[in-house]
Amino acid sequence: MIDVRTIDWQSDHIVIIDQTRLPAEVVTRNLHTVPGLIDAIRSLAVRGAPALGVAGALGVMLAARSTADPDEVRALAADLRAARPTAVNLAWGVDRALSRVEEGPGAVEAVAIDTLEADVRLNRALAARAADWLLDRLPAPFNAITHCNAGALACVEWGTALGVLRAVHERGALGHVYADETRPLLQGARLTAWELRGLGIPHTLVVDSAGPSVIARGLVQAVVVGADRIAANGDVVNKIGTYPLALAAARAGIPFVVAAPESTVDPDTPDGAAVEIEVRDPAEVTGGAAPAGTDALNLAFDVTPADLVTAIVTEARVVTPMR
Ligand code: MRU
Repeated sequence: MIDVRTIDWQSDHIVIIDQTRLPAEVVTRNLHTVPGLIDAIRSLAVRGAPALGVAGALGVMLAARSTADPDEVRALAADLRAARPTAVNLAWGVDRALSRVEEGPGAVEAVAIDTLEADVRLNRALAARAADWLLDRLPAPFNAITHCNAGALACVEWGTALGVLRAVHERGALGHVYADETRPLLQGARLTAWELRGLGIPHTLVVDSAGPSVIARGLVQAVVVGADRIAANGDVVNKIGTYPLALAAARAGIPFVVAAPESTVDPDTPDGAAVEIEVRDPAEVTGGAAPAGTDALNLAFDVTPADLVTAIVTEARVVTPMR
């Protein structure tokens, strides 16, 4: 593994690992302006709900340092907040830093840096809690399947769902991890496989549509995923392709566990149907494969109903919506 944070602050700017370049090369990118940060968010150079929360807070810090006018900071913050709609963490991070704007850049900076540093602590805490929960219920070693990338690259360090598997691995209790490739942008193939290799965790990549069969064939004893937003009723919004894993897990009778920080829980959203699901460029799906002019519906996220979720584990609690 590399010893660089996914997102960090350096004297007067944000530094990110440019995830569009992984796994071929580890390149960092300096971001000095809010429009530059918005660009990086939209192109998924920085991505994953917790990392987006930190990006939101640090972005407001950039804005507050660029102008003394709170209204200008608010305008930049509104653009940043809207860069991606689904992960509530982005709006949460923006709002958290913006709440101090009237007190000046020093106050915004204090809360933004706290958001950055807290992310590391929170993810380690929730990973340990979820590892305990799993090991109380499953014989060790156990195998798991995960979807998208919910590792260090989706946070500042460590990870949520992948952080859980990392914690189980450190306790010598993890067998094998199956990673969905995660069409169309391949966060599983490009990022999760790269992280698992770096961590020395045995793993196998499967196409997304094979995930439910991996479960049905008894190759894994748990599903562990992250989340972009958890609604008040326990519905979980995560990368498209998560819902089929939950259906398969329910059919097979294995736990479907969601690992996420409290900042992903959105009490103002009553249920999954109320969440805006990001629809991305059809060209990401058609690529070079489909005949020219083919339409594609590129839904970036799906909703897993609460009744399919065995446990939601945060740094503060374990919620078991099925019970
Ligand atoms: O489109 P992405 O790559 O930002 O989607 C990321 C996911 O869906 C993750 O599973 C989620 O943000 C949790 S990351 C800890």
